[in-house]
Amino acid sequence: MAVNISIELLKKRGLFYSLRSRPLKTIFFRIKRFVFEKIRVHRRKKVISKLEPYIVSPPTDIILGKNFEFKNLEIVSEQYASQNYAFIENFFSQDTYNKICDSFPHEVFFNYPRNGSKFYYWSEEFRWIRDDNKTTYNEKNAETFFHLYPTFKKLFNFLNSEDMSEKVKIITNSHEAELYSIALSRAKEGSFLSPHIDTISTEKKPGEKIMMNFIYFLIGGGSSPHNSGGTGLYHDNEFKKSIFTPPTIKFSALLYDSIEQFHHGFDVMAPGSFRWAIVFQFKLL
Ligand SMILES: [Fe+2]
Repeated sequence: MAVNISIELLKKRGLFYSLRSRPLKTIFFRIKRFVFEKIRVHRRKKVISKLEPYIVSPPTDIILGKNFEFKNLEIVSEQYASQNYAFIENFFSQDTYNKICDSFPHEVFFNYPRNGSKFYYWSEEFRWIRDDNKTTYNEKNAETFFHLYPTFKKLFNFLNSEDMSEKVKIITNSHEAELYSIALSRAKEGSFLSPHIDTISTEKKPGEKIMMNFIYFLIGGGSSPHNSGGTGLYHDNEFKKSIFTPPTIKFSALLYDSIEQFHHGFDVMAPGSFRWAIVFQFKLL
């Protein structure tokens, strides 16, 4: 859960919803969400049948980019150790990247935002979460999804592999690294992520390891990264004291330690801009 959100900033961006203080605006937002979701579910059925001829064959293997090869990991690891975050360009090999882009799921698989502070579209039904029983998403949904997007089946398996875990351990200097969740998101004109701290970071003291986040920026554009969904790190919750803004949101990843008190978010996206991203988290010991 997100904490330390600035209500003032939400008000300024016109995204503050509260039944008590903004009843009409909030009811309108909820109706809009309800209607959007009804239409989406209806469209989803039709779209699924149309997608069949356009299935993209998966790559033989998911291959990480040069910066993530074992011999180059030291650079990332040093960056991470000194700043508690790292930015890596060319995260996957060109072939893997192309396949992921070509297979990025249709918009009918992405839900309407739930609130104003996390105002972008993300795929709830294909969110992979490792719970106590090691189960994941709804099996029936997954069957359709992975049939249409086999590259994502490979990608999810790869992120959950020993190879990936080994690399995360090296970067974070941890004894254990276990994939905890994967989520896909689409953001566009008007989307917004209010700078916040993840709940987890208030539960432990800085320096203690629990979770690390990867934001993999697949593709985006239409304005500068700052105005087209380039999630940045901040000291404050109103974009005033920047720590880091990604120089590009194509083909690159921002890794950061959830325990550190980094606020992360992106400002309201410019007209015509868009961004596709994959967010995954690792639990560390
Ligand atoms: Fe967050």
